[in-house]
Amino acid sequence: MGGPPVFVSRRLPEAALVPLLAAADVRMFEGEQEPVPRDRLVREAAHCVGLLVLLTDRVDAALLAAAPRLRVVSCMAVGYDNVDVRACTARGIAVCNTPGVLTETTADLCWAILMACARRLDEGRRVVQEGRWASWAPFFLAGQDVWGRTVGIVGLGRIGTAVARRARGFGMRILYTGPAPKPEAEAETGAQRVPLEELLSESDYVVLLAPLRPDTRHLVGARELERMKPTAILVNAGRGPLVDEGALADALRRGRIWGAALDVFEQEPVPPDHPLLHSPNVFAVPHIGSASIATRMAMARLAAENLAAVLRGLQPPSCVNPDVLAASGRGLPSQQPEHT
Ligand code: DGY
Repeated sequence: MGGPPVFVSRRLPEAALVPLLAAADVRMFEGEQEPVPRDRLVREAAHCVGLLVLLTDRVDAALLAAAPRLRVVSCMAVGYDNVDVRACTARGIAVCNTPGVLTETTADLCWAILMACARRLDEGRRVVQEGRWASWAPFFLAGQDVWGRTVGIVGLGRIGTAVARRARGFGMRILYTGPAPKPEAEAETGAQRVPLEELLSESDYVVLLAPLRPDTRHLVGARELERMKPTAILVNAGRGPLVDEGALADALRRGRIWGAALDVFEQEPVPPDHPLLHSPNVFAVPHIGSASIATRMAMARLAAENLAAVLRGLQPPSCVNPDVLAASGRGLPSQQPEHT
């Protein structure tokens, strides 16, 4: 196989990599379940022009310093907090991501965990499977209503808007907070922009979908949890470090909030002895927001297309630092995409 050398950091179906296989000499990590070891990633990057990485791979200044030929880092994810974009830009390296293709699937998962927590589905499943179902009883496994309640979305990007669209079907009042007003999403969903403090105190469900950046790390900590209703549920389908997990475990233990539905954690995989997993009313899943077969194929395909386009000197479908391409004459500037 000819073409510029490229490393794909996890085993992906060949069918998804077709555009890349035609444009590059592709080496692929053989593991599917486990991340590529750091030293192998650095070794591969040292001679590669392109990397296709997952959110489990850290692309930092140290890796970049060891990769003098690198021109493009393509993430199979919409979030790219694992990549030092500033350092990439300084070195003229394009960074690409996969927005759009995972929006609806991730919004579905948000609702799945929100409802599972509100209606205590995991406890119910265990009661049935373990033969502990004694009788119908007035308040047996009684949870929180979803319909007609208030949902507060922190980060009304693509996924947040898709979550809001679904909330309309449940007759909910929709609040959101974010750095800028979203008039189109407001018109489509009836969402109302409020300050974070108001969203926290008014919402029955606080849904976190903001991108992880230095200014959003621990966006929800002890102070924010104190503002929430004792009947409220915190839903995190963005990134784990948006929440101070110690403060959340403490708030759940004290009954300060009613429950938490979590797809993401500060440390992934979350250790089984983590206090959060032993807190009351926690419904936890292992970062599977975008995990439908069709969506994961679409993400892999888009990541491959992005990478192949940059290698061919064309405009990639989604680049987060398009000025790099404009400056080098490789591709045309594409629009700065929203994170989620
Ligand atoms: C993303 O794309 O950022 C998601 O977290 C992957 O599911």
